[in-house]
Amino acid sequence: MKLNVRAAQSSRVKTDALAVALFSDGNPSSGFVAVDRALGAVLSDMRKRGELRGRDGEVTVVPGNTRVGAKRVIVVGIGSRAGLHPATFARYAGLAVRAAAARKLPNLAIQIPEPIPFSTDNVLENAAEGALMATFDAAPYRSNRNGKPSDLASITFVVGTPAAVKEHDRAVSRGMILGEASNIVREMVNLPSNDMTPTHLAKRAAELARQHGLKISVLDRAEMKRLGMGSMLSVAAGADQPPKVIVLEYRGDKNAKHTLGLVGKGITFDTGGISLKPALDMDAMKGDMAGGAAVIGAMAAIAQLKPKTNVIGIVMATDNMPSSKATKPGDVVRAMNGKSIEITNTDAEGRLVLADGLCYARKLGATHLVDIATLTGAAVIALGNVSTAVMSNDRQFVDLFHQASAPYGERYWELPLFPEYAELIKSNIADMKNSGGRQAGTIYGAMFLKEYVDTAPWIHLDIAGSSWTDKDLGHLVKGPTAVGVRPLARLAELFAHASLHNKADDAAYERLTPKP
Ligand code: BES
Ligand code: ZN
Ligand code: MN
Repeated sequence: MKLNVRAAQSSRVKTDALAVALFSDGNPSSGFVAVDRALGAVLSDMRKRGELRGRDGEVTVVPGNTRVGAKRVIVVGIGSRAGLHPATFARYAGLAVRAAAARKLPNLAIQIPEPIPFSTDNVLENAAEGALMATFDAAPYRSNRNGKPSDLASITFVVGTPAAVKEHDRAVSRGMILGEASNIVREMVNLPSNDMTPTHLAKRAAELARQHGLKISVLDRAEMKRLGMGSMLSVAAGADQPPKVIVLEYRGDKNAKHTLGLVGKGITFDTGGISLKPALDMDAMKGDMAGGAAVIGAMAAIAQLKPKTNVIGIVMATDNMPSSKATKPGDVVRAMNGKSIEITNTDAEGRLVLADGLCYARKLGATHLVDIATLTGAAVIALGNVSTAVMSNDRQFVDLFHQASAPYGERYWELPLFPEYAELIKSNIADMKNSGGRQAGTIYGAMFLKEYVDTAPWIHLDIAGSSWTDKDLGHLVKGPTAVGVRPLARLAELFAHASLHNKADDAAYERLTPKP
């Protein structure tokens, strides 16, 4: 599928389908007015009759005529002007793509409305991402595969002013890189565990590494043992599928003082282990490697965006299975940094694999750490599918992350790591235990992980709720969301320029984090 930008009067563009955006309030954009005029005021007539309201997500298709170059005009509601966000244009483009594909209209032009309060490039990047993300195939195992969004031949973004075409092209190619990376992640998360094994995940990572020039190494059980990854190995103990630690390295600056480390939870299936999960909805646990997939996708995007910095991506991949070799509740293991862990619940396995992943990232030279994981059901209870739970030991670093995520439609919300919560993880027999009572489950997970980052500034992203959607949301369809991919890639870009300190400034963090 080809994506390009053209400066033109959109009603004149020869195409199968032309998408125009409609606000739910205020005056329609100049582009909408021009198309409406060419259509003989059909659209304004429909507006008067209340058939077209411009509500977010509303899609209406009308035939073109001899004065419009398009065979069909797709009117997409984008909601109120006040609620407008650059990510609105990802949804807009996504809805247009899906409407065109469903009607087998292979060439689509998408008008970028003007004027809007964002830079055209910001909007174009989001629109390109949304267009690509809408082509995601959510049912790859279905036999009848007609009329897929990916069957579209070309998408042309139509802007009013002919200036800055070079910058526009750059914005679109950024959007394509990030949109494509997101789709690869969604594909990986969507695959069931009989196909998405740790070995397969490593193979996909290797393919992407080769394609984009990343260094890759994959550790097997024996190498994990040599490194002292007792915590990771305790989760893999019951699994016949060989566990893998996947390490991707991007070097964009030989002289960099800082290295960003991204660590992803790659549980290819989470049965809970001996602390077996109930049957209801257990199939969703095929997506327990969404954090690991996000790290792979972000690394692929970073390799193409080429920021002047260094990034290491680590994915801790294994099934979590019951078996006679499996870890049993009460067992005590030792992580790579020598800390002992009493495993009180084998279903709290994410923190166990991440503990060694974080230690290993430090060992490989990461100065700043981000982990991303479908860690706790409690995060789903607290924030639903809407928002990712964010926890950190460093105000400056987490603020950089918020800045990185701002252009995208993803929501991130912080939970506190007050020292009082350290009580939760105390064990009677070891340095800590991996699960406790019912209180503060999401914070518990983070307090546990905090023991493995040493003094490094660190951000923990709990995507248990946000990695999956049950609703069709424009550019997203029911299924994996690839949450985190775009913000992590952009974090690497900001990381290249930010002036960062090496050690967590605990005093500053205390000052800035509100006390109860
Ligand atoms: N993978 C789950 C968390 C999860 C739950 C993700 C629902 C997505 C949807 C994780 O490994 C887990 O089982 N967590 C336990 C921890 C508990 C035993 C301390 C949980 O949240 O119940
Ligand atoms: Zn899990
Ligand atoms: Mn679990």
